[in-house]
This record gives sequence, structure tokens and C-alpha cells, in this order.
Amino acid sequence: MRTPSAEIFRFDSMAPCHASLGCFLQNFIQTAINRQGYFTIALSGGVTPAALFRALCRPPFSTTICWSKIFFFWGDERFLPLDHPDSNFAMAQKNLLTHLPISSDHVFRMPTEIKPYATAARHYQQTLAKTFATLTSKNEPWTKGEYPSFDLILLGMGQDGHTASLFPGHPALNRTDWVAEVETDQALPPVPRLTLTLPVINNADTALFLVGGAAKIKLAESFLACQPQPHYPASLVRPRQRLLWYLVQ
Ligand code: 6PG
Repeated sequence: MRTPSAEIFRFDSMAPCHASLGCFLQNFIQTAINRQGYFTIALSGGVTPAALFRALCRPPFSTTICWSKIFFFWGDERFLPLDHPDSNFAMAQKNLLTHLPISSDHVFRMPTEIKPYATAARHYQQTLAKTFATLTSKNEPWTKGEYPSFDLILLGMGQDGHTASLFPGHPALNRTDWVAEVETDQALPPVPRLTLTLPVINNADTALFLVGGAAKIKLAESFLACQPQPHYPASLVRPRQRLLWYLVQ
């Protein structure tokens, strides 16, 4: 399987990065909609994406992107109330979803109200299986080792090289199902999480990292220049077609 080399885009500040990233999304989304009639995206969490989401809610992207044909999922989520400021769903609702013509039946949040955590993970896998089977008109059951293919997975990266909620050395890195529950003391905020697994992330058409700050850029460049370094989960992301890194000083 071809593993794409990373395409790196560097910016001195977020505003020009968001403008460039928005243009990429506009074209990528429209090409997919022209081809298949819909677009699937897994949103990243944390703080960095919020300003990007707000930029997408303003012209030109608020009117040039065909929002009604997009299906929204998450790459990871924290087990917090849906209105908690550290909830990735709450952040996306506040900065993106409530400002655009997006139907609630096109939004598939991770079910962090479900306990135990492993049951929530299985539940989201069932949601993905059902939704992607419908979107792709898949008639036969999913087989072991078969994974949904997101058109785009948005990702961030922590200072430790984690991405989504895949943390260095965590057993979730070796999971072969679609969604994993993660309990770790490495996470900030220190709450349990759900995350898409590496096989799902790497079965995406495109993965796009949005990373800000000199320390994270230095870390990213340390592994982008050479082979994947398993200690840094972000370096293990190898989507099927394109791997994009938007680096902002
Ligand atoms: C999460 C995120 C996580 C995030 C990085 C960077 O839920 O924690 O998905 O992977 O992307 O931790 O977060 P910041 O953008 O806030 O630095």
C-alpha cells in the first residue's frame, strides 16, 4: 500500500493558515461531493481547531463549502458532559456546527454518556459501521480487518507526540477494532477518552494535522524527516492518499 510522503505547509500565524486550509477544504470537499455525493470528516479536538472552525463559519467558506453534504464525526472525545468546555463536541458545536446549515442527523458525536467506556467504544463502532455502510451502499456485512474510510481526518498533536487520544506507549495504539477506550494519566484534561484507532485513521483518504507552536513543530519535523518513530503516535499516521501538515509558528 502506498504510504504518502508528508506535504508540509508553514505559516507565521493562524489567519493565513486558516485561509489556505479553508481553500484546500473547499476544493477537496467539492471534488468528493462531485464524485460520491457526500463527504465524511472526523474532527479533531483540543484548543487549536477552534479558531479554524470559526474561520470556516465566515465568508467565503461559510457560503462556498457545501455543508449540507458533509457528515461529521470525531477522532476522539473526552468522557465529559456534552456542555463541558473541554468536550470536543461542545467545542465544535460552539465554533462550527451551530453556525452552519448542518442537519443534526449528519452529526455523529462519540457517546460519552455510555458506561462502561468499552461499551461506548463498541457503540460508536456500530454507529460508524451503520453510517458508512449506508453512505457507501455496502450490502455485505463488515468483515474482520475491514475499516471505514473517512475522506478526511483532522488531527492535532500534543507536545508528547500523541494524536487523537493515542498516547505514547498506550495499548490503544495496538487495537485493531475501530474505536478504543483510553484511560491514561498522560492526557490533559486527565479524563478517560474514546479514540479512533490507527487502522481507521490510516484507512482514511487524507489526514491533515494542524499544529501550532515552535516546540510541536520541532517535534513534528524530527519524525517527518525520517521513518515513523513508534514512540510518537502522530508519526504513525499514514493515510491512503494524502498526509498534510499545516505548521504554524
Ligand atoms: C484531544 C485532541 C488531541 C489534540 C492535541 C492538541 O482531544 O485532546 O484530539 O489529540 O489534538 O492534544 O491539542 P491542542 O490543539 O489543544 O494543543
